[in-house]
Amino acid sequence: MASSLPKLSEVPDTDPSSCILDAFRIGIAKKVSDAIPELTLEQVYSGVDYGKKGVDFTIALPRFRLKEKVDVLAKKVIDQFQADDFVESITHDKAFLHFQLNTKSMIREILTQVTSQTRLGASEEQKANKEWQGTYGTNTTGNGKTCLIEYSSPNIAKDFHVGHLRSTIIGAFLANVYKACGWNVVSMNYLGDWGTQFGLISVGFERYGSQEELEKNAIKHLFEIYVKINKDAAEDPQVKVDAANFFKRMEDGDEDALKNWRSWRELSVKKYEAEYDRLNVKFDIYNGESMVGQEWMDKAVARLNEMNLIDEVNGAKLVNLEKWKLGKAVVRKKDGTSIYLTRDIGGAIERYEKYKFDKMIYVISSQQDLHVSQFFKVLELMEFPWAKNCVHVNYGLVQGMSTRKGTVVFLDQIIREAASVMHEQMQKNEDKYKAVEDPEYTSLELGITGVKIQDMAAKRINNYTFNWDRMLSFEGDTGPYLQYAHVRLASIGRKNPQFLPLPAPSQIDITTLIESSHAREIAFLLGSYPDVVKTALKTHEPSGVVTFAFRLSHAISSAWETVIVKGEEDEEKARARMWLYECAREVLAAAMRLLSLRPLERM
Ligand code: ARG
Repeated sequence: MASSLPKLSEVPDTDPSSCILDAFRIGIAKKVSDAIPELTLEQVYSGVDYGKKGVDFTIALPRFRLKEKVDVLAKKVIDQFQADDFVESITHDKAFLHFQLNTKSMIREILTQVTSQTRLGASEEQKANKEWQGTYGTNTTGNGKTCLIEYSSPNIAKDFHVGHLRSTIIGAFLANVYKACGWNVVSMNYLGDWGTQFGLISVGFERYGSQEELEKNAIKHLFEIYVKINKDAAEDPQVKVDAANFFKRMEDGDEDALKNWRSWRELSVKKYEAEYDRLNVKFDIYNGESMVGQEWMDKAVARLNEMNLIDEVNGAKLVNLEKWKLGKAVVRKKDGTSIYLTRDIGGAIERYEKYKFDKMIYVISSQQDLHVSQFFKVLELMEFPWAKNCVHVNYGLVQGMSTRKGTVVFLDQIIREAASVMHEQMQKNEDKYKAVEDPEYTSLELGITGVKIQDMAAKRINNYTFNWDRMLSFEGDTGPYLQYAHVRLASIGRKNPQFLPLPAPSQIDITTLIESSHAREIAFLLGSYPDVVKTALKTHEPSGVVTFAFRLSHAISSAWETVIVKGEEDEEKARARMWLYECAREVLAAAMRLLSLRPLERM
């Protein structure tokens, strides 16, 4: 199903075979560079932007900084203009040239591409593989490159706070985006599984620990012990001394001291894995602060010493970063025990040696901006050539996260609360509720979608207030609304089986789509999806994809009344519309999966 557009020159970094709008943009650029010979095709191409409302593409002429006046340039382009398979019409508004694509070829080309690169046009073999979801929207720009993404990274025996949840959601999204762009992705969870608190818990475990409780729910039990022993420590200073001694034994590798800790870690990871699974999140590696090799930290400190970057103050070693307004960073405490920063430095070197990554992303709250800046600065001062490939993806705070029972400490509380609030919402509509096949699964998935969408809807750096009612409503731009839009699309196929499977694209008469501005808008949005993915890779912002999913859902919902399938007597028309909706379903589902959601078929 190749494109039937005329062949045009190639432009670097474009690929019409995965993004047909690239071909249209080249078509536009060619018209302009033909009319203005001072500009090369590539120069013009880089200036072809999406237009504002109702305009497909726009070129802002001043960006080219040519001697001639912009009106003169615009006139040249307009005088030469001839409509063709790429462009239908052109207008100019002062310094801007606006282009409308040829509706017929645009719709046909986009729907054909979507079809051939999704399950709609899957081969028998691809269809047999339920996991195969198609390639539409993906690209190969990252082929051969490895990206290590560290995210979630909760602390064992402490609470899983919303910051960790955000890191999990954003990190999972980034892992999907990098994969969609052809990168080899290593997803890593860097557990807070080391540090003086484990000395405390060990002392606490002797007093309050129960093997049975531990097996039941390690995360919960360890947290309870942590709370109790902290209380004890507040009254009895000896507790802290014992704890410090115990942790020192752990650091020295004393097997007896490590035995319990090992099983706590293991049981906690098991529990986490089950919860991440519900969130549709998977890690390739469970790393942790405990696993950073001593040799790497020693080497790092030695190298800093050699490079004269270390100041000694009262036996502690500090890296002086004042020149960069980053203060003084402690890399070794007086008693020689390691600390967070040192583990990060050693860990980064170790990861580079192991994975030879082309990029390493840390998804960590903006509360740790200073820490990460210090950490990256130290790597840079140590002159590691890969230091510049380390990226901090940060995000703002979440306020007001609690359940009806009180403050949230565990991830499973968040998941359960989302599911139960959702379940209640659904029960409010009795008839609908009865029709849902598996209300447990559906409410869980809707609840999780609500949490995720609320989290990804705005720019990462913004703070937001957690609000169960708002995020789980079916009205407004919420997760449940998005799932609903998908369910509605999925039901068209179920309700009109006589049109399925669709004939080959070339056999479908799309006249009715060409006549509908709603259909045009949907098709154009579908065509822009590959760009949405590329932008997400550049900005590391999930919000662009969320916005796209809502725009598409809104466009579809405005089309329902006029672009009808059921009740349409003309079969040709019904079939063409069905094609449009089937393509829309595929692309909406792809965008949702990119956001780590599981699109629902029914609700
Ligand atoms: N466990 C840390 C915390 O909860 C987050 C770890 C972030 N990653 C890192 N490499 N420092 O605060």
